[in-house]
Order: sequence, then C-alpha cells, then structure tokens
Amino acid sequence: MTITLREINKDNWRTAAKLNLTEQQKTFIAPNWYSMLQVVYSGGELYDRGIYLDDEMIGYTMMGQDPANKRCYIDRFMIALEHQGKGHGRVAMHAIIDALKTRYNPDSIFITFEPENAIARKLYESLGFVDTGELDDGELVFRLPLTS
Ligand SMILES: CC(C)(COP(=O)(O)OP(=O)(O)OC[C@H]1O[C@@H](n2cnc3c(N)ncnc32)[C@H](O)[C@@H]1OP(=O)(O)O)[C@@H](O)C(=O)NCCC(=O)NCCS
Repeated sequence: MTITLREINKDNWRTAAKLNLTEQQKTFIAPNWYSMLQVVYSGGELYDRGIYLDDEMIGYTMMGQDPANKRCYIDRFMIALEHQGKGHGRVAMHAIIDALKTRYNPDSIFITFEPENAIARKLYESLGFVDTGELDDGELVFRLPLTS
C-alpha cells in the first residue's frame, strides 16, 4: 500500500469534496470544497493535492507560500474518517513535507491548528514541529525547522 499526492483535477475534485470527517473534526478544518475554491482564486499562491492510498483518494491537503513573508504553509490536511488511525496521516505528512521542500526549498514549514485539536498537535510534534507561540486567527502556529 502506497501513499502518494496527486493533482486535483476535473476527474477527482468531486471525490475530494465528499471526503468525510466527524462533526467535531469539521470544526477544525474548512470543507474541502471551500479549500478547492481558495486554490482556484489564490492566483497561484496556494495549491492542493489529493492524498491517495494506491488508487483511492483518502485525504486532501492544501499548501502554499505567503508572498508577504515567504513563509511556506501547510494550510489544510485531512484524512477521511474511515481511513483514520491507520498511519496514513503520518506517511502523508512526510510526503507533503517532501513536496514542499522540492517546490519552495524553504528553511522551515509552518502549520496552524485549533488549540483543541489534540490529535493534530501530537502528530505534528512527533514530526518535529515546534510551537512558535504565535496565534493566527485563534489557531496555534507551529514550525518545522529544516536543514538543507
Ligand atoms: C489529523 C489527521 C489528519 C490524522 O490522520 P490519521 O491518518 O488518523 O493519522 P495517523 O493514523 O497517521 O496517526 C498519526 C498520529 O496521530 C495521532 N492520532 C491519530 N489518531 C488518534 C486518535 N484517535 N487518538 C489519539 N491520537 C491519534 C497519534 O499521535 C498518531 O501517532 P502514532 O501512530 O504514533 O500513535 C486526522 O485525524 C484528520 O483528518 N483530522 C481532521 C482534520 C484535522 O484536524 N486536520 C488537521 C488540522 S488542519
């Protein structure tokens, strides 16, 4: 079983829009349809990918670089409910970090999440993200330092 990131396109965007979360988890992340619209109207600042387990889309992510401060961000990250808790999120995060390194060659990667999102916090900390102490629209801002 292999996790890959694939472009969102005319054939798979409906699948991305239908990926489901628990009601509580829906309070942690914007709906994928909204993120896909954000990408379309971001003028190239943002891009997104489907997270695939072999040939099945099981998750979605949106990433980008803030033109103002050149910070590289993972803006959205989700694994569909029925595929959670099986290690796919962790593998997908490694793929996302690699993709961002290739695209932007950043010296660090930023991620934000709701303070109540204990699962996300545990996952990100285990990957090396550290708390910056900043808040962005009520969300905690964590940073992964990279050595090039
Ligand atoms: C966060 C999320 C992407 C994790 O995906 P996942 O595929 O379930 O994660 P994994 O199975 O790879 O688990 C990774 C780590 O998350 C934590 N975790 C996952 N499920 C957990 C649970 N039910 N309880 C506690 N910790 C859990 C653990 O730290 C785990 O590490 P471990 O394997 O060493 O125990 C998923 O829960 C999700 O989509 N949540 C809703 C959207 C969201 O909150 N996104 C992040 C903020 S934008």
